[in-house]
Amino acid sequence: MDTLLRPWSLDDAPVILAAAAEEMMDRQFTMPIDSLTAAQEWITLLMARREDDTGYSFAVLHDGVPVGNVAVSSVERRHQTGWVSYWMREEARGKGLATRACRAVSEFAFSELGLFRLELAHRLDNPASCRVATGAGFAVEGVERARLFYDGVRFDTETHARLATD
Ligand SMILES: CC(C)(COP(=O)(O)OP(=O)(O)OC[C@H]1O[C@@H](n2cnc3c(N)ncnc32)[C@H](O)[C@@H]1OP(=O)(O)O)[C@@H](O)C(=O)NCCC(=O)NCCS
Repeated sequence: MDTLLRPWSLDDAPVILAAAAEEMMDRQFTMPIDSLTAAQEWITLLMARREDDTGYSFAVLHDGVPVGNVAVSSVERRHQTGWVSYWMREEARGKGLATRACRAVSEFAFSELGLFRLELAHRLDNPASCRVATGAGFAVEGVERARLFYDGVRFDTETHARLATD
């Protein structure tokens, strides 16, 4: 985990800004990332979530350089659940990094956070994300029809989950 993942820091704002500008990547953020200031605000939000124990986001490192993000968010202590998400810079895809990072953040969530059930979902037309989930031990649980709405089109999603006991 030490060489693969580390928490984001404010110095990483240029990486976040560049990542958000890549194709379809704006959807990976809940606010527009159109300036270095916005990227810093995003990282500040991630830090606040870590402080209040609702989310833990990590930069995924390749040769020490941040090239992606993996997170467990929506941490719910009552039910010991969390929501896993990930994205990689285009240049870093296809190297198995997302799968390794997803596995690492899951192990962190089970062992360090004490969570029991981790969930994630991907659009049915995102087979790479499905492979990452499956490769990181997340079993398929089912399809949610017309779950998302982008640019006038509805998309089905597939939910996966991994339990601490899997
Ligand atoms: C999804 C994403 C994180 C995958 O990152 P990655 O680093 O390329 O993933 P990996 O290298 O670990 O590859 C995972 C698997 O996907 C497969 N894959 C990659 N692109 C694929 C494609 N277009 N179609 C089918 N499979 C694909 C790889 O062959 C690999 O399969 P394997 O485990 O059977 O060998 C990356 O494409 C991304 O950031 N996409 C944009 C954001 C996004 O969609 N995030 C997920 C939202 S649910």
